[in-house]
Amino acid sequence: MSALTSVVSPACALSGHVRIPGDKSISHRYAMLAGIAEGTSRFLNFSAAQDCYSTLGCMRALGSEWAKKDDGAIEVHGIGPNLKVPTRPLDCGNSGSTIRMLSGILAGQPFTSELFGDESLSRRPMARIMKPLAEMGATLESREGGRPPLKIHGGLLHPIHYRPEVASAQVKTCVLFAGLFADGETSVEEPIRTRDHGEVALRAFGADVDRAGNTVRIKGGQKLRAIEAHVPGDISSAAFFLCAAALFPDSQLTLPGILMNPSRARLLDILIQMGLKISVAQLEEHHGELIGTIEARGGAWKGGAISGADTAALIDEIPVLAATAPYTENGLEVRDAKELRVKESDRIATVATNLRKMGAELEEHPDGLRIPGRQRLHGAELDSFGDHRIAMAFAIAALRAEGETVIHGAEAAAVSYPGFFDDLRGIAE
Ligand code: S3P
Repeated sequence: MSALTSVVSPACALSGHVRIPGDKSISHRYAMLAGIAEGTSRFLNFSAAQDCYSTLGCMRALGSEWAKKDDGAIEVHGIGPNLKVPTRPLDCGNSGSTIRMLSGILAGQPFTSELFGDESLSRRPMARIMKPLAEMGATLESREGGRPPLKIHGGLLHPIHYRPEVASAQVKTCVLFAGLFADGETSVEEPIRTRDHGEVALRAFGADVDRAGNTVRIKGGQKLRAIEAHVPGDISSAAFFLCAAALFPDSQLTLPGILMNPSRARLLDILIQMGLKISVAQLEEHHGELIGTIEARGGAWKGGAISGADTAALIDEIPVLAATAPYTENGLEVRDAKELRVKESDRIATVATNLRKMGAELEEHPDGLRIPGRQRLHGAELDSFGDHRIAMAFAIAALRAEGETVIHGAEAAAVSYPGFFDDLRGIAE
């Protein structure tokens, strides 16, 4: 994709409706499970994210055909649990979710597959999924230090009880997907509870999955059947506009059809504590996922602290919370967030670099940031560092800065939200 520079001008309020694209985490899981299910699945509001198209591309290379229909739905033809041998390495693009979760399925296939990605993905740690999959009986090879490309020699797997060292929904989902191909019951005991879309999606496709406390169990050999689903709007994408609304007392924003899954909606509690006025209406459930319409109004933007289980629950929203933190009354402290250093960029370093360029003062720690409040920022020339959430977080920070902000590498936003800059222009006044 060609490089794009976006110029963001200051705003004085946000108002209107935004229809947020389908949730990325759910879309990945639906695309993978639909491919190994029997029958044709149909997904409305499937994520527009480049990352999810990386997953669909890999699934096609593994024999699961799909098409985008006239009504925008994605139809995926499932071929059952036995995928086709790919004729070339599988391109996961920028997507950690694709490489980590698909590896669980590939570990259960009686062939060898290779997975690779772009420069950023090639730096990201894969030992976290290589270890459990090797314990289950697959043979995996990687570049030095457990970095992609990965080569997976799959086959019949043994069930394990796995306790991941890091709180990661991708790891949990990878092991549960591999558990479908094991001869017995596989379980994952999480150190901290992470998003549960893997479990919820497996149930939607007809699998039995049990949870007791922080342990999830799945029996191998279960058959999946196709589903028709409407993917809820991505709450992590909504977070950018919610933080933008919080910057201006006169803001009034409506976001219909947003994912309200409790393992993701902790964001709303934190935003309310920080001063955003939020109400949720029209709650519905689709295939085990809650959906609601968010109405948000600006108020005071007070700031706060995020640590422990909250950090894991808000891991994708911390960049925008941090980028807007200098405008809070009391600042923001983020701790226990060293996972941010191994995302699409080192998000502690990239947030700190861009905030400093805008004139902010802050402290950078190995596992987080301390950003004082009541600061005035100025527009600056910034870089996305090839990271979608950094591009979007600083477009939001730019709305309250003095003067224009130039964001180089703004095309990165398309990794999760291709229409982001247009949608932002549509509501910024
Ligand atoms: C995701 C889990 C999180 C998150 C990522 C999506 C998922 O990653 O940051 O954007 O869909 O399971 P980790 O599992 O590495 O925490």
